[in-house]
Amino acid sequence: PVPDDHVVVLFGATGDLARRKLLPGLFHLAKAGLLPARYRIVGSAPSQAALSDDDFRKRAREATAEFGRSKPEGPEWQEFEEALTFGAADPDDPGPLLSAVRKAEQAVGGKPRRLFHLAVPPTAFASVIEMLGATGLAENARVIVEKPFGTDLPSAQALNATIHSVFDESRIFRIDHFLGKESVDNILALRFANGLFEPVWNRDHISHVQIDVPEKIGIEGRAQFFEGTGTFRDMIVTHLFQLMGFMAMEPPAELTAKSLRDEKEKVFQSMRHLDPTQVVRGQYEGYRDEPGVDPRSDTETFIALRVELDNWRWAGVPFFLRSGKSLGEGRHVVTLGFREPALRMFPVPARGGAEARNNELVIDFDDPGRIATRFLVKEPGPAMRLEETGMVFDYAGSFNSMYALEGYERLILDAMLGDQSLFTRSDGIERLWEASAPLLATPPPVEPYTPGSWGPESIDRLIAPYRWSLPDRR
Ligand code: BG6
Repeated sequence: PVPDDHVVVLFGATGDLARRKLLPGLFHLAKAGLLPARYRIVGSAPSQAALSDDDFRKRAREATAEFGRSKPEGPEWQEFEEALTFGAADPDDPGPLLSAVRKAEQAVGGKPRRLFHLAVPPTAFASVIEMLGATGLAENARVIVEKPFGTDLPSAQALNATIHSVFDESRIFRIDHFLGKESVDNILALRFANGLFEPVWNRDHISHVQIDVPEKIGIEGRAQFFEGTGTFRDMIVTHLFQLMGFMAMEPPAELTAKSLRDEKEKVFQSMRHLDPTQVVRGQYEGYRDEPGVDPRSDTETFIALRVELDNWRWAGVPFFLRSGKSLGEGRHVVTLGFREPALRMFPVPARGGAEARNNELVIDFDDPGRIATRFLVKEPGPAMRLEETGMVFDYAGSFNSMYALEGYERLILDAMLGDQSLFTRSDGIERLWEASAPLLATPPPVEPYTPGSWGPESIDRLIAPYRWSLPDRR
């Protein structure tokens, strides 16, 4: 499906996200033939950062050359570039933006739909939303809102109230780029299209679940953002909890945005309030020396926690979530640990010994993703000796990944199509902040860890008697 004709307005067009992801991503969509037949993209920023149309095009070209998978060349680029214009906007002076939008709409012709993408710091959300309401720009429009969506329950409620005063929920697209990853959608296919998996996807067969997103990178000069945010708000409340929702949800009645989101919200409803004694906060050694970081900073650059879902499917099955900066590898992995068989009939595996694990299903959702199972087989020979082995499905080897979209690309396309399936909803977000309140109120002290490690040592106690499935055993 190709979306209706559009005028897209990108607030924060001179910022980092626009440069790394949004402009290159929009061009990739154009090149893949997925943008509407007629469209314009209006970049916007406060007047002190205003650009001419030509300078905006130049920046978009440089950004796409540096970060895009589709390089800015050929007639496709020419056409895309011509669709880019710029209109500055200040809360008290939306004039230049209004005239840029008017011109863009004339160029498209008819009555194109408006899509506003708010790639701006949270402090600027409210004034932009109010301006969209006051100027009438919000008419016939949808809005994409970036994370972080609040910093606690009251701030998320206030933000929802501001947005709802101008847009109703059906026009709000709170973006979480993890939900645009190919393998996340595939969790639905894996679970609900196969008789092999769904019957064992519950407490009778699964002992615990790990959702593990270590990052190799540090804070990459984002001290100002990171100091006030930390890994819990940056990664867990957004990305990892959303993944957990997909892993844990009941089968939706149908594959519609409403059904899917209802089921995901029910998972959040069943989430027990976080217990600060079941949380390890870490900070990499050297973080306090980074430029812009408070030398006594208590901000966590790492967090591991245990989450309990009080529902029929998952009662008693802990979910362990981990994410952090400056760790051993950058990965995105979900592991289902299976229960042991009822009886131990076999001698301990020869290789691996006591180290051998119970069966695991490992979903690696680095784009484009892999799925692996780990299980035991008999080693050839007269003796009954077991060895751990596995089976692997690899997206890259099995499909032409040319057609795959990155998270942001997929989600911007869905917003243009009006499909909210992979976007978060106000009730779910508020519930997650509510369940997080005890941790936010009394966070345990940060523990130091060595850059390149897998976090503070106490994370092994947190997950015991299980073990982290990363780093991979060779
Ligand atoms: C962002 C966080 O939302 O996600 C970053 O703000 C983080 O701190 C990034 O590095 C990770 O995304 P991905 O897709 O590269 O794993």
